[in-house]
Parts: sequence; C-alpha cells; structure tokens
Amino acid sequence: MKLGIPREQQEGERRVAATPETVKQLSMLGLEILIESGAGTESGYSDHEYLQAGAEVVPYLNTGELDILTHVRPLEPVSAKALKRGAVTVGLASPSSELATVQALADAGVTSFALELVPRISRAQSMDALSSQALVAGYRCVLEAAIRLPRFFPLYMTAAGTVPPARVLVLGAGVAGLQAIGTAKRLGARVSANDIRPASADEVASMGGTFIKLDLETAEASGGYARELSADRGALQRELLAPHIAQADVLITTAAVPGRRAPLLVSRQMVQGMRPGSVVVDLAAESGGNVEGSVPGEDILVPTADGQGHVTVVGLKDAPSAMASDASRLYAKNVANLLALMTRDGTVAPDFDDEVVAGSCLTHDGAVRHLPTAEALAALTPPAAESRPQQEGAI
Ligand code: NAI
Repeated sequence: MKLGIPREQQEGERRVAATPETVKQLSMLGLEILIESGAGTESGYSDHEYLQAGAEVVPYLNTGELDILTHVRPLEPVSAKALKRGAVTVGLASPSSELATVQALADAGVTSFALELVPRISRAQSMDALSSQALVAGYRCVLEAAIRLPRFFPLYMTAAGTVPPARVLVLGAGVAGLQAIGTAKRLGARVSANDIRPASADEVASMGGTFIKLDLETAEASGGYARELSADRGALQRELLAPHIAQADVLITTAAVPGRRAPLLVSRQMVQGMRPGSVVVDLAAESGGNVEGSVPGEDILVPTADGQGHVTVVGLKDAPSAMASDASRLYAKNVANLLALMTRDGTVAPDFDDEVVAGSCLTHDGAVRHLPTAEALAALTPPAAESRPQQEGAI
C-alpha cells in the first residue's frame, strides 16, 4: 500500500506527520512511503534524510493515488474529496469544528482516523497525540512567560544581594498544565496550581507544585475529564482565585472541557489586580480563552489597577508548532503506532473489534462512525423533502 506524507498547508503549521525514524518504522510494516518535497524542512528533517530512511521524495503528492494519507492539521473538504474510495487517513481532524470535512470524508468513502478520538487508556498511550502535543505546549508556555518576565525564575543568592524566586500559578492541571508545573519548577520558580478534578491535587504535588484548594466542589465527568461549572460556580471560582492571581508573577492557564468553549477563569479586573511586569500566558486562547481579552498570537498590554505599569497577556497560538522538531517527533510516533496496530503484511486492515481502532475511527464505508459528530451533522442537515409538511397546492 502507498502511504503519503504531505507538506502541511495551514499558515503557522510547521510540523510534519512523519520523521525519518517513523518512515523506517512504516517501511518495515511493508508500506511504500511517498513524501512531498520539503514536508519536513520546518521541523528540521531534510528530503535527504527521508530518502535515506527509505521514502520516495516527490515534488507533488497526488493524493488520489494513495491508499493511506497521514497528516497533522485537519484536511480541507476539497482534499478529502480528492482521496480515493477506501483510502485511509490518520491525523488530527477536529471533528466537532470541521464538520464539512467529516461529511466530505464520509461521502468519499474514506476510512478516517482522528487522533483526538484515540481512547485515553493505558494501551493507547503511545498513540495519544493530544497528550504528546499538550506536553510540548505546556513546556513552551513557561518559556514564553520566562522570556517576557523582567525577573528571574529561580532564587539567586549573590554577593550583590538575594533575588527571590518568581511565583508561578498554573490553572488547569491536565497534561499541559502538569508539564508547565514541571518546567517552571525546573527553572526554579515557586509553583502553585489549581484544577477542579478530584485527582488533580495529587498530580500537582507529584510534579512539585503546591495545590491550591478552593472551597468549591470538584467537577468530574466520565473518563476522568472535567465537567463544565455552572455560571454561579464559575463566578465563585473566579472570586476565590482572585487573591492567588494577584500574588503571582506569572499566570499560566490551560483549562479545557472537552467539546466546550474554554472556561473563563480570569476576568480583566483580575488581570489588572496583578503587579506591574507580571505575565499571563493563556494556552486556551485559540479555544475561546481562559483569560478575558486574550487574543491568539498576540501580546496584549493591560494597565494595572495601580496605574504603575502593565501586565502582558500572551494569547498562545500554534504552541506545539513553535517546537516543531520534537512536536513532530512525538506526533509522528503516535501516527506510526496507530498504523502499526492496524497493519498486517503491508496491508492496513482496521479491526473494529479493537476498542482503540473502533474508538478512533471517524468515518468508514460512507458513514460517520463517531456518534457525537454524526449527531452534530444530522442537526445541520435540513429534513428530507418527503418528511417536510406539504404546502397547499403542492403535488
Ligand atoms: P484537557 O485539555 O481537556 O483540560 C485541561 C485541564 O483543565 C483538565 O485537567 C481539566 O480538569 C481542567 N479544567 C477544566 N475546567 C477547569 C476549571 N474551571 N478550573 C480549573 N481547571 C479546569 O485535559 P487533558 O490534559 O487532556 O487531560 C484530562 C484528563 O485525562 C486528565 O484526568 C488526565 O489525567 C487524563 N488523561 C489520561 C490519559 C491516559 O490514561 N492515557 C492520557 C492523558 C490524559
């Protein structure tokens, strides 16, 4: 079977869906690998390295000839339509927001796998791209804060005096938040964190952070994910967080609730209550923002309430892409591992009795297999002509 790796098209996307290492892994499965020239350049992998790993480097990838297409960003509907019937795709698909592409994949008879849907069970950890990319983003957001903060992170005791450590507060202690805690600790900051899942207190402590316990019930949904707080409880959480935020030199927010807009944890007034020079990094800026007024890809200067300076609010965008080499290294492994699970003797043949395969399949054989996405699409589709009430005079 022919597997293709395209050069990603979306502006700001620097990652690639395969590295020379995974090209070797995929070749050993018996697959024939084609890669578009320059696909790995921005991640630091040259055409020559792919060639040496066993791939054929082509100037243009004719996707209509491929049996398998791996990708990073969700495909455009037009790219989905160009695939041949029965082709397999593996990549991020953003099913809840890219409904037109999902429909195009189903209509084209493509078997598509969305890495967001890989079940979060131990056996599937090596295929979990949400975790691998959140790890990169969590690390990166601390560096973004450190470079903007006009202070050290660590404690310094020097002949010229003692410099106290920076205080870092992390809100949302999932994969990205825990990585942010670990990174800030390694840089020597004093780190505290809050999350609404019951397990998070121990997880924060395991990374060396101090858990801030608020007088607020925990909120967990199935699968260990957070549940959205009611408006009242959200307001209470903000009120309880305000004094902790005012004390922080750096605030990092990573809170998310699957399938929902990111929860608003920090109002503009709370930002204004911070000290001049403080830095806020909103990792959720692209999904609605945890911080009022954060703008993806921009630094916003918010004047402090005391009129003495400003707080820098960083709306992080394409965070894993900023570390494209290692982000691609991990992402490509996730892709190759999922494909390895489905490949026997050079043929990709998904076994839908396997919960990882079944759980991550988005479309197959003309249908949308992921129920919430199928329901979202059905809600968009106008009722069929025969089920519409007949108008007077209609035949
Ligand atoms: P996520 O990206 O969906 O959310 C990030 C964090 O925001 C979560 O920890 C969530 O509890 C928190 N959050 C939501 N609303 C909040 C609020 N109002 N205030 C404060 N925090 C709030 O989560 P992620 O990183 O994808 O992980 C979610 C869960 O999945 C965790 O329990 C994690 O341990 C688990 N997990 C399990 C894996 C496995 O077993 N293979 C792999 C990765 C994660």
